[in-house]
Amino acid sequence: MGIPRGPSATLPAARPRARSSNLFKGKGDLSEPKVIPMKELIVLAYSGGLDTSVAIKWIQEKYGFDVVTMTLDLGQGSDFKLIEEKALKLGAVRHYSIDSKEEFANEYISRAIKANALYEGKYPLSTALSRPLISKKLVEIAWKEGAVGVAHGSTGKGNDQVRFEVTVRALDPSLRIIAPIREWGLSRHEEMEYARRHGIPLSEELGKTFSVDKNLWGRSVEGGPLEDPSVEPPEGAFEWTRAPWDAPDSPAYVEIGFDGGLPVSLNGERKGLVDLISELNALAGSHGVGRIDHLEDRLVGIKSREVYECPAALTIIEAHEDLEKAVLTRHELEFKQMVDSAWSRLVYNGLWVDPLREDLEGFIERTQERVSGIVKMKLYKGSASVVGRSSRFSLYDIGLATYGVETTFDQRLSEGFVEIWGLASKVANAVRRRASGTGA
Ligand code: ARG
Repeated sequence: MGIPRGPSATLPAARPRARSSNLFKGKGDLSEPKVIPMKELIVLAYSGGLDTSVAIKWIQEKYGFDVVTMTLDLGQGSDFKLIEEKALKLGAVRHYSIDSKEEFANEYISRAIKANALYEGKYPLSTALSRPLISKKLVEIAWKEGAVGVAHGSTGKGNDQVRFEVTVRALDPSLRIIAPIREWGLSRHEEMEYARRHGIPLSEELGKTFSVDKNLWGRSVEGGPLEDPSVEPPEGAFEWTRAPWDAPDSPAYVEIGFDGGLPVSLNGERKGLVDLISELNALAGSHGVGRIDHLEDRLVGIKSREVYECPAALTIIEAHEDLEKAVLTRHELEFKQMVDSAWSRLVYNGLWVDPLREDLEGFIERTQERVSGIVKMKLYKGSASVVGRSSRFSLYDIGLATYGVETTFDQRLSEGFVEIWGLASKVANAVRRRASGTGA
């Protein structure tokens, strides 16, 4: 028996297998090498949910591959021991549980903070940022295991398939990519049936109304009643945020210290990024901060109603953007807005691995040296507002700004400035009047 091959002709060719060293010569026959019928491996990004659980069985049955599962801890607060047990029980030959919180915060979220990343002005990219990291780990484990490919649980309608596959292809084009959920075309009912037949536990699944993805940077909620964009999201969609109208009647103040564009302290206490974000998620969430209702343009052309909870992300970006206003010139700010929005679109659209991201970051990084200081935030019934900011790089000059007598600004200079500033518009209006007067 030869090495089993995937049936789909569209899959890229398998890379040479590390385990092809498992060859031995048959007894008494030195000319005919025999291959141990060892199954080829696929590394599956496994969440522990129904889709990726069914995917384990499906990859085994349909392709005849063995499945190695991988789950990253990105701060989603899952029970990783339980996920591992479940994967192994469903027949995964090995499971990797990797704590990637530090890497996620320091290599991905940090860049999003510096770019004030909000896709279409609203979505902090929490799910989008995690995909390239998950893809990178899939590829690393595939190399380690000598696997022929990787698999993910995305559908064919979303952005995540793009993010996973673009990243994997860029890192190792020889790896096959299997997307069971996109391929199998099972309805929810058929999937449940399949799960039942294969002994996949359904108990947690039955009460689920929403499709949820979460990590340190936010919680994305889709589906169920949210699919009607004219209807307010029910309270059941939210987990991290108190309803703003039920939030405490007195505000909480928090001073966020920034150094080189990144938050480094809360109320004067220095913290690593992971802890700082976790703490802010809890604090801001308890004041009802972080709810987002977004009618979003997916890369594949679908408009989709997405609900998010991102208490820390919204608070930090609000503070960061404000501090930038203090320390960057208006020309830098205007240009940076374009760079920031290009960065957000690129990352949303799955092109983390494109060199343009690093090119844009070259500019962004250069501006961040001065983004150091303290921003005081007021968290109150759903809003996170800046109420004070200070920085040794602040360009704010009280002598220029004050209406008091001690001002250093010479108002007489403005007369000529205003005249010249308005000159082009004055001329254009005069010409327009003349032209319409003569009927020309
Ligand atoms: N629309 C968001 C994005 O594309 C979130 C996707 C969330 N996925 C989910 N399974 N709920 O980044």
